[in-house]
Amino acid sequence: MQLSDKKATLSFSDDSASVEFPVYQGTIGPDVIDIRKLYGQTGMFTYDPGFLATASCESAITYIDGDKGQLLYRGYPIEQLAENCDFMDVSYLILNGELPDANQKQDFDSLVTHHTMVHEQLQLFMRGFRRDAHPMAVLTGLVGALSAFYHDSTDITNARHREISAIRLIAKMPTLVAMAYKYNQGQPYIYPRNDLSYTGNFLRMMFATPCEDYQVNEVVERALDRIFILHADHEQNASTSTVRLCGSSGTNPFAAIASGVACLWGPAHGGANEACLQMLEQLQAEGGVAKVGEFMEKVKDKSSGVRLMGFGHRVYKNYDPRAKLMQATCKEVLTALGLENDPLFKLAMELERIALEDPYFVDRKLYPNVDFYSGIVQRAIGIPTSLFTAIFALARTVGWIAQWDEMLSDPEYKIGRPRQLYTGAAVRDIKR
Ligand code: ACO
Repeated sequence: MQLSDKKATLSFSDDSASVEFPVYQGTIGPDVIDIRKLYGQTGMFTYDPGFLATASCESAITYIDGDKGQLLYRGYPIEQLAENCDFMDVSYLILNGELPDANQKQDFDSLVTHHTMVHEQLQLFMRGFRRDAHPMAVLTGLVGALSAFYHDSTDITNARHREISAIRLIAKMPTLVAMAYKYNQGQPYIYPRNDLSYTGNFLRMMFATPCEDYQVNEVVERALDRIFILHADHEQNASTSTVRLCGSSGTNPFAAIASGVACLWGPAHGGANEACLQMLEQLQAEGGVAKVGEFMEKVKDKSSGVRLMGFGHRVYKNYDPRAKLMQATCKEVLTALGLENDPLFKLAMELERIALEDPYFVDRKLYPNVDFYSGIVQRAIGIPTSLFTAIFALARTVGWIAQWDEMLSDPEYKIGRPRQLYTGAAVRDIKR
């Protein structure tokens, strides 16, 4: 970051002396006021619940311009990455800062591929779960448990250890998600196969059985790979900030990523894709397109507690660029699978059309987010709704681990420790 010529001055309405703070500039995006000395100089904290105006760190990985609807990984627009790269290119880019050349790509693919198997004993660990456990409950447990299986790479001060655990996490996540699915189905686990792509391998681990192999459909493979690309990173969102905060204590990478998985599960974050598809299915069951008007009235009535899932975003106050790409992918997949007339897709398009014209949504700048269409694509591929957030976690792992590594490599890194405005009882004595 670069020091700006500008300075920020904080003055008070009483006679206290005003204080000056340095201002820093990034490459693009808003400048930041460095308030680290605020408490020392004024005895006050800033108050910013939900971090609406707080930059918690310096980062060079992902940039979002919410007003423009722009998303960049390491400077490259998401549209170009989705068009020209696969998830392994994007993972390499997010981790290393540059796209790989042909040799680097081959080595990276091979490295990830050769770490896809998980310790055989994880199967025993898995057996402790109920068959009907939610995949995110299983995944939170499994990812945390990895630290007990791979403790030879948990010295966070060692860059090589951090690299090994990053590859292990990226490589093993599809295996764990597929295992969670197979366990739920009561089917045998399918081991990874090294001659398939990252995404093809995941599809096969999900859908092959020992009785019948699974032929990877290229359109489906490309669509799922695109879902992975679109979800790979999203700067300091709730789960990434959770990973950073958790990791800032010096805990091991598997524990830090498990905290991200737990946070992602919530319906206001990664759980929205599952909630969105459930909303579409329920609306379809209640009458579909004919009931859209009635449903929208409910959404706009605050007392109903109903939200249009897959709509709105803390940062995007314009169309989420990932939602546009997802809508196009949705059309491609449905066409390739002969599902052009999918009623849920029609319903989603109608909801979007009405919302984009309705002053309630227009005034609040509520647009479709990535989750609005991704559930329809995943459903068409055969992925059950309850697994959607786990797929998101699989893809976001690369972002989490890159952000965690960036934090640990920062010489200014400190344990995260927010402060508070205390409004509880003042000091008092027990009187008995
Ligand atoms: N449906 C109806 N109204 C909404 C919606 C929605 N989906 N989203 C926001 N609003 C309304 C709020 O009621 C509020 O109205 P008000 O100003 O009259 O009180 C206003 O829009 C602002 O909403 P906030 O909740 O304050 O916005 P915030 O930035 O805190 O929340 C969030 C963003 C959580 C994503 C919200 O839009 C939401 O709940 N959306 C639905 C869930 C969803 O799709 N989440 C996925 C996020 S993307 C991701 O994680 C990949």
